[in-house]
Amino acid sequence: MPAEPLDAVEVKRHTLDVRIAHWIVALCFILLGLSGLALFYPPFFFLTALFGGGETARLLHPWLGIVLVAGYLWLFVRFVSASVPAPEDMTWMLRLGDAMSGREENLPEIGKFNPGQKLYFWGMAILILVLLASGIIIWNAYFATATSIPTQRIGLLVHSIAAILAILGFIVHVHMVTWEPGTLRAMVRGSVTGGWGWKHHRKWLRGVVAGKRAKPGTSAPAE
Ligand code: HEM
Repeated sequence: MPAEPLDAVEVKRHTLDVRIAHWIVALCFILLGLSGLALFYPPFFFLTALFGGGETARLLHPWLGIVLVAGYLWLFVRFVSASVPAPEDMTWMLRLGDAMSGREENLPEIGKFNPGQKLYFWGMAILILVLLASGIIIWNAYFATATSIPTQRIGLLVHSIAAILAILGFIVHVHMVTWEPGTLRAMVRGSVTGGWGWKHHRKWLRGVVAGKRAKPGTSAPAE
C-alpha cells in the first residue's frame, strides 16, 4: 500500500506586521548597499545607473536610510523581548561546532531565537544607529554647515566601516536562512512546520503549545 503523505503541522512564527517591516528593511538594505557602494568606490559607480544616475543615487541614499531606520525600529520593538540573552545561550555558543554541523541533539533547548540570531539582531541595531548618526553628519544637503570638515571626514570613515560590517552581517544572515531548509517560509508565509520548531527552537515550540493548551480554541501568539 503506498504511504499517504501527512499534512505537516504548521506553527505560526511571524505576524504580518513583522513580515512587512522585515521585507521593507531588507529591500532598503539592498538598495542602500548598491547605492552606497556606487558612491563609495569609483569602480562601482556604474551601479548608479540602477537609480537613474549619480545625482539621484546620492539623493535617494539617505532617504532609503531613514525608511530602513523606521522599519528596523518596528522590528526592534517586536523582537527585543525574544532577543534578550538566556542562561542556555552560553552553552549553545560553546557548542557552536555542533550547531554548525547539525548535531542539534547536543545543544540545549532554544527559545524563539538562537544566540547567533540574537547577535545579529543586536549587532544590526548598533550598526544602524552608528550609520544613522554618521549619515546625518555627512548629509550635506541639510547638515553641511552643522559640523566641521574634520568631523565630517571622521563621519565618512565611521559610516563606511559600519556599512562594511553590516554588509558582512547581512551576507551571513542570508546564508544561514537559505542554509537551513524551512526557515525562509517563516518570514514569507509567517509559519514553520512543527518539525522545524522541534529541531531548532524546541523551548519556543513548547511555549507555543503550552499557550494553545492554556487557551483552547485560540491561536497562540506568534511573538
Ligand atoms: C534578502 C534578504 C533577507 C532574507 C532572505 C531574510 C530572511 C529572514 C528570515 C527567513 C528570518 C526568520 C528567521 C526565523 O524565524 O528564525 C529573518 C529574521 C530576521 N531578519 Fe532577515 N532577511 C533578509 C534581510 C534582512 C536585513 C537586511 C535585516 C536587517 C538589516 C534583517 C533582519 C532580521 C532580523 C533582526 C531577524 C530576526 C533575528 C534573526 O532571525 O536573525 N534581515 N530574516
